[in-house]
Amino acid sequence: MRAVVYADVRTVAVREVPDATVEAPTDALVRITSTALCGTDLHMYDGRTGADPGLVLGHEPLGVVQEVGSAVQTVRPGTRVVIPTHLFCGTCVMCARGLSAACLRARAEGPGAAYGYAGMGPYRGAQAELLRVPWADANCVPVPGEPGDAYEDDFVLLADAFVTGWHAAATLAGVEAGDTVAVFGAGAVGLLGAYSALLRGARVVYCVDGVDARLDKAGEIGAVPIDFRLGDPVEQIRADRARAGLPLGEEKLGGIDRVIDAVGFQARDRERPDQERPDQVIADAARLVNPAGSIGVAGVYPDKDLHPRPGASAREELVAPWGTLFSKGVAVRFGRTHDRRYTVLLRDLVVAGRARPGIIVTHHGTLADAPELYRGFDRRENGVIKAVLRPS
Ligand SMILES: NC(=O)c1ccc[n+]([C@@H]2O[C@H](COP(=O)([O-])OP(=O)(O)OC[C@H]3O[C@@H](n4cnc5c(N)ncnc54)[C@H](O)[C@@H]3O)[C@@H](O)[C@H]2O)c1
Ligand SMILES: [Zn+2]
Ligand SMILES: [Zn+2]
Repeated sequence: MRAVVYADVRTVAVREVPDATVEAPTDALVRITSTALCGTDLHMYDGRTGADPGLVLGHEPLGVVQEVGSAVQTVRPGTRVVIPTHLFCGTCVMCARGLSAACLRARAEGPGAAYGYAGMGPYRGAQAELLRVPWADANCVPVPGEPGDAYEDDFVLLADAFVTGWHAAATLAGVEAGDTVAVFGAGAVGLLGAYSALLRGARVVYCVDGVDARLDKAGEIGAVPIDFRLGDPVEQIRADRARAGLPLGEEKLGGIDRVIDAVGFQARDRERPDQERPDQVIADAARLVNPAGSIGVAGVYPDKDLHPRPGASAREELVAPWGTLFSKGVAVRFGRTHDRRYTVLLRDLVVAGRARPGIIVTHHGTLADAPELYRGFDRRENGVIKAVLRPS
């Protein structure tokens, strides 16, 4: 089969690799119709997280079941399915509690596993023609319709980007109707976090970034774009809240009830945007958040950064504004998405016409287009926000 593999720092290649097959009786083999690129892939692409050359990339698959193992009970060949990024057994104590991204059986070295990701288990990725899906009854989520129909982009985003945006808004930041929300990062995760906050009834949602195409998209989905190149985003948001006519005394608030970090450790330093400053977003979020508010951190912070910025170490401990967070009484939650909790809910929002996450997809290609799409995505060029490959 053909697949997108990590070749070297900032190089992916499209190669012929051995076909994925059914290896265990509980596996399914899925023929991929759509498979998305993600900011998480960029951490590997940039050489930050130790991917071995030859690793098949990708963790956002939509496709059709081609074959199932003898013990698979509910999934049949021909079924259109979306596959959550974090694969899981479905029966361990964490899975039983709905905490699928912390499954205890999917990876020998620790909790949680994912397709095509360095350090997340032995599973090959989904930017390929075929994908082996372990524990198929748990991991294959049926979706209606036919491959290539009007929902193809909406459904592929159920694998990761939309469920992560929803997890960030609903569970990590705890957005409820009437809240004020600010999302840092207008990549796919930030945009769909903002979109989820709006679906949940937020009063106003700000979206902070420094890339034109992404700020435009934030406006398109109904958020208020905040361009950090124009000045401190915290002050810009406070000024906008003040223009909205805050009640007397509210100026003592930080500004925002729920803040989402959809950037992670590769955050740009706002003072020197050609450089990174991994604690930039947490510093801004702590200033902006209201007393008794919350911060949800969906952006990735790795244990070890293989190419830290000049002057920093591989295991740099970030300085969090602990005192500010304590005195404001802020709740901070981190983490990977327990995807499977939300897949069916969000699928049904799509099917009911209440959500169209596919509006954030900007580019389509075949597997052969992967090198060029990765380059544009990484450099924030050509308006690439979310690219979807269609292998078959
Ligand atoms: N928790 C999870 O389960 C999960 C799942 C998917 C992705 N992620 C992570 O979420 C993050 C976002 O993913 P994505 O696909 O949207 O990535 P992306 O790279 O497309 O988007 C990141 C955005 O952050 C912006 N940014 C950089 N510095 C900033 C700053 N100081 N302030 C505001 N914005 C800034 C960039 O311009 C970019 O638009 C990544 O770290 C990714 O690994 C986590
Ligand atoms: Zn992803
Ligand atoms: Zn499990």
